[in-house]
Amino acid sequence: MTTSGPLLVPEYRRPQGVHPDPRTPEYMSTRLRAPERLTVLPHMLTEITGPLLGEGLVNEADADLTRQHHGEPLGERIIVHGRLLDEGGRPVAGSLVEVWQPNAAGRYRHDRDRHPAPLDPNFTGIGRCVTDAQGGFRFVTVKPGAYPWGNHDNAWRPAHIHFSLLGRAFTQRLITQMYFPGDPLFGQDPIFNSVRDPVARQRLIAHLDLSETVHEWALAYRFDIVLRGPESTPMEDGEGDHDS
Ligand SMILES: [Fe+2]
Repeated sequence: MTTSGPLLVPEYRRPQGVHPDPRTPEYMSTRLRAPERLTVLPHMLTEITGPLLGEGLVNEADADLTRQHHGEPLGERIIVHGRLLDEGGRPVAGSLVEVWQPNAAGRYRHDRDRHPAPLDPNFTGIGRCVTDAQGGFRFVTVKPGAYPWGNHDNAWRPAHIHFSLLGRAFTQRLITQMYFPGDPLFGQDPIFNSVRDPVARQRLIAHLDLSETVHEWALAYRFDIVLRGPESTPMEDGEGDHDS
C-alpha cells in the first residue's frame, strides 16, 4: 500500500471589499482584539468531515422564539425568513441556522448585559432551525429593540438579529447580523459601517415581505443569505467573539 500524504481541500479566498476588516478603528474593541498577523492554515479533510450536527437535535419549536415560555413575549411579533444560497444561487439545504437577539426593550438575557431595560420572562432570544430542501429558514420572534453600547457618545446599535450559519462542519461557521429597513441609527453605527462597500452593506438589511405576512398577526421580513462570492452577505471575522 502506498501513502500519498495529507489530502488538502481546495482553499476558498474571500472576495475583497465585501467583508469588514477585523480591525475597524471606529469600532473600539477591534483595536485590541484584531490580530496583528493572520496565518491561514491549510484546510484538511478532518475539518470538514466531523464532528457533525445531528439533525434530530433541532425540532420545529426551536424556530419560534415566542413559544419558549408559558406566555408570549412583549413587543411586535414578526416572521423572519429567507434562503441560504451558495455563490451560484443554489440552495444550501440541511444547514443549521441559529439566531440570537435582545428582547423588544433592547436587553439581552445575558449576565454581561447591564443595560437598564427590563428583561422579559417570556423571552430568551435564541432560536435555531435547519434549512429545508430549498435552503429556506423561518423564525417567529419579536422585533428587537435598539440598545446603547458605550462605544462612543450616544452609541446605540440599530435593531438587529445575530445569525450563525454552521455549514457542514464547525470550521465552516459564519456569523452575520440582519438589520431592519429604514433604521435611523445606521449612520452612526460603526459595526454596520465596518462593511465599507455601501452596496454590500445593503445586503445586511432585510426586506419587508408582505407576501409572507400573516394577516392580523405578524409582519414578515425576508433575509436571503449568500454564503460566498462577490454577491455574498458580509460576514464578521473571528469565531463569534462579538460583544454587541
Ligand atoms: Fe447585538
